[in-house]
Amino acid sequence: MRGYLQSIIIVFIVLREFSNALRLIEVRVPNYTVKDNVVRLECYYDMEDEKLYSVKWYKDGHEFYRYLPRDHPPASLFPLPGINVDLYNSSDTQVVLQSVNLASSGRYRCEVSGEAPSFQTVSDHGDMVVVVLPETDPKITGGRARYQIGDRVNVNCTSGRSKPAVKLTWFINGQQASHEYLKPYKTFKTGREGLEQTVLGLRFRVQRDHFKNGDMKLKCLGVIESVYWKSNEESVIGDRQKVSSLESKKPVSATSTSNTRADRVHDFFSTMFTANASSCLQSSHQMLVVLLMFSLIILQQQQQQQIAR
Ligand SMILES: *[C@@H]1O[C@H](CO)[C@@H](O)[C@H](O)[C@H]1NC(C)=O
Ligand SMILES: *[C@@H]1O[C@H](CO)[C@@H](O)[C@H](O)[C@H]1NC(C)=O
Ligand SMILES: *[C@@H]1O[C@H](CO)[C@@H](O)[C@H](O)[C@H]1NC(C)=O
Ligand SMILES: *[C@@H]1O[C@H](CO)[C@@H](O)[C@H](O)[C@H]1NC(C)=O
Repeated sequence: MRGYLQSIIIVFIVLREFSNALRLIEVRVPNYTVKDNVVRLECYYDMEDEKLYSVKWYKDGHEFYRYLPRDHPPASLFPLPGINVDLYNSSDTQVVLQSVNLASSGRYRCEVSGEAPSFQTVSDHGDMVVVVLPETDPKITGGRARYQIGDRVNVNCTSGRSKPAVKLTWFINGQQASHEYLKPYKTFKTGREGLEQTVLGLRFRVQRDHFKNGDMKLKCLGVIESVYWKSNEESVIGDRQKVSSLESKKPVSATSTSNTRADRVHDFFSTMFTANASSCLQSSHQMLVVLLMFSLIILQQQQQQQIAR
């Protein structure tokens, strides 16, 4: 008797699964939105042969909106902190939230049910984070107008207050600053909303290659996910005299015609290995030139041997 009941239940479940007509197509919840924005939550489903009984919306497990097409009016609301539904614009496929705030962040679930006798129910969810944008752009402080080679750069980039915290990145002449140059400080929490302010220091000793055409551009970029993207840039001038005096110390490359071929090859090797391989492309190019010169030397030696014979 018990086995008989069990098999009936299994057949019932299998039938329900395979005759499954009600299908949830997509629940669309914005991942990030800005405080005070109007947010549209969408729920698309396919009833096939079923009839819609209800659409329910939950935030963090608590129902706040219910749509029953048989009811008049069909929509009803349940108050929740951070939820302010625009009833006029909401329907069975969308809920519009007016001026969201920090309490509106959370998991939104849409649940669709069919009519009797099957009462099929399908649901899916999306997570939303409400962002409080900073009122000020990232600020660069502590910088000097002029730097000489050998000087220490010690500057700070400070974000405006936001939630979540702004992620800061430093760039030197458009290239992301190396990790050793960075000095992260603790983020500061302020106010009742717990807004956060971040400070990222940039510290390094100035080298010749930090100057591009005599100046150095320091840029600080602040980002909050996909909703905030602001940067600030400072241009610094290099002291010309110091720059040129250092440049003159650079070993003069062998261009004299009196050099032997071997010397030239040696020079190629020394520049190749002393020069910092700032880009792989450049060094692979040099490698090619060196290989070409070697094959030329070998070819010429073979020719000379043939002539000698
Ligand atoms: C939103 O979040 C989901 C889940 O984490 C992810 O799959 C999707 O790519 C995100 N969408 C955007 C626009 O970032
Ligand atoms: C909501 O309805 C009002 C009044 O018809 C309309 O002006 C507004 O654009 C609608 N908002 C949305 C998000 O659909
Ligand atoms: C950078 O900010 C930190 C933290 O506020 C502070 O202690 C430090 O003195 C600042 N440095 C400069 C160069 O402004
Ligand atoms: C050489 O280049 C690398 C990055 O390509 C850099 O990290 C390193 O500090 C450079 N060294 C010198 C001596 O410039």
